[in-house]
Amino acid sequence: MDSRDNKVTPQGETVQILVEFLEVAITSIVFLKGIYPSGAILSLICLCAFERRRYMNAVVQRARHPELQDYIHSTVSGLLPFIQKGLVERVAVIFFNGENIQVERFVFKLIVNQSYKSKVENSDLEFALRSFLIKLSVTEPLTKTLPTDCKWEITAYFQTLPSSGTSKDAELWIPTDTKQWQQPPIITPIKSMHSQPLSLQLYLEHPSLSEPKSCE
Ligand SMILES: *[C@@H]1O[C@H](CO)[C@@H](O)[C@H](O)[C@H]1NC(C)=O
Repeated sequence: MDSRDNKVTPQGETVQILVEFLEVAITSIVFLKGIYPSGAILSLICLCAFERRRYMNAVVQRARHPELQDYIHSTVSGLLPFIQKGLVERVAVIFFNGENIQVERFVFKLIVNQSYKSKVENSDLEFALRSFLIKLSVTEPLTKTLPTDCKWEITAYFQTLPSSGTSKDAELWIPTDTKQWQQPPIITPIKSMHSQPLSLQLYLEHPSLSEPKSCE
C-alpha cells in the first residue's frame, strides 16, 4: 500500500466526519419518513426501531434494528474511499412506490477539494454539519406522504464508474436499473454549506407535475 495512504490529510479527516454525519443524517431521513427496510416483520417492530441519542450536540435517531443499522452503516462506510478520492458527486436516499417508481429523493451533493492543504478545524465542520441535522428534523412538512407499500434505498452517483477489478470496495456497488424521471425534478433546498475542503448541499427532489404517471 502506498505510504501516503497512512498520512491523514485535511480531506481524510473531513471525509471521516462527513461519512459519520451521512450515516446519522440518512437514519434521520428514514426515521422522518417512517419507513423501515421491508416487509411485515420489520413493520411490527417499527415503533422501537429507533432510539434517541445525541450526536454533534443535536438530538438524533439511532437505528436499533440491526438490519437497518447495518444497511446504512455498510453502505455509507463503503463510500468512504471513493469520497476521499473525490469520485462521489451525490449520495441520495430514494423512496419508491409499489411500482418501483421514484416518488421522492433526498440528495446530498458534495464537493471535496482535493488540492486543499490547510488544517481543518473539526469543531467548525461539526458545527456546520449539525445545522443540517437540525434542519432535517423539521423538514417533514416539505416532504411527500408516501404510499404504504413503498421502499427506499441509498444510491451514490459517481463522477466516473469505479472499476471493480481494481478495488474490492467497488464490488459493493452495482449499477442501478432504477427508472429515472423523464422531466427535470422539482427541487426544494434544505441546507447548504460552502467551506474548504468540503461543500455540501442537501435538497429534496420530487417528480415534476408534467411527469408522465404510470400509476396512481
Ligand atoms: C481548493 O483549494 C485550493 C487550495 O486551498 C484553492 O486554491 C482552490 O481555490 C480551492 N478550489 C475550490 C474549487 O474551492
